Amino acid sequence: MSTRPYHAAIFGATSAICIETLRAMAREKTTKLLLIGRHPGRLESVANDLRSRGAECTTLVADFLDPKTNWLQILTDNAQSDPWDLLLIAHGSLPDQDTTLRDPESLAAELHINFTSPAVIAAACAQILVKQNHGTLAVFGSVAGDRGRGSNFIYGSAKAGIDTFLAGMRHQFSQHRKIKIVTLKPGMTDTPMTSHLPKGPLFSSAEAVGTQSWRAIQSAPPVAYLPGWWKFIMTLIRILPSSLLHRTKL
Ligand SMILES: NC(=O)c1ccc[n+]([C@@H]2O[C@H](COP(=O)([O-])OP(=O)(O)OC[C@H]3O[C@@H](n4cnc5c(N)ncnc54)[C@H](OP(=O)(O)O)[C@@H]3O)[C@@H](O)[C@H]2O)c1
Repeated sequence: MSTRPYHAAIFGATSAICIETLRAMAREKTTKLLLIGRHPGRLESVANDLRSRGAECTTLVADFLDPKTNWLQILTDNAQSDPWDLLLIAHGSLPDQDTTLRDPESLAAELHINFTSPAVIAAACAQILVKQNHGTLAVFGSVAGDRGRGSNFIYGSAKAGIDTFLAGMRHQFSQHRKIKIVTLKPGMTDTPMTSHLPKGPLFSSAEAVGTQSWRAIQSAPPVAYLPGWWKFIMTLIRILPSSLLHRTKL
């Protein structure tokens, strides 16, 4: 049996949910991680935290909004001859809906960071996994992508886009049985992204969602609601007639 460490590259490694996912991973496995993000200081601090938990970490500063970045090359160059076991895409941004709608530049940037960038990176990741004939691609979508709602359809439509993109890739690569493509769909989670929102009973902690994300990455269903009861809530929201939905502030 192979004794090599579990090898993962993480895009948006400074995300609170992602940090907890990696901590849960490091509790169970010997890990070798490539942490990718935009802020060297924050990346190094996450790397140090994970090193103190036994993980081997390197960091890479990259611009997720630069369409010229060659992700395939980056993943190939940093593989160091070990196959990737996991490619995890976690970056995202929750914009203020009303101000963003009035500002075309911000609107385009939000759609870019929440859809275009993860989709472009996911496409490169899939090429790597197909070439290796091994590994899991996991991407953070959101329950917000399950139905367009007045309160957050900029973010929600980008997350719906990535959900559909991944569903299509799963279909395209369905003959490659050793490759898994997982859409992780957290519900409302207490992280810096939601720090401005009042917290209610539907909120989960980053630690709980991160631990569940790690479980989902291992079992690799096509779509994982985190926590699982969000699947039930979103089924209800999806079947709610528009005539009723439009009377709410959802
Ligand atoms: N929190 C929730 O309620 C919730 C619910 C459903 C889905 N999600 C999804 O789960 C994932 C993780 O979210 P989180 O709650 O852990 O968020 P978070 O702690 O706020 O982290 C957001 C991550 O995205 C990165 N990021 C944001 N804008 C960026 C930009 N323009 N360029 C490069 N990187 C950028 C941040 O990098 P810096 O550290 O450099 O800022 C950070 O790594 C996201 O995809 C999010 O959409 C979250």
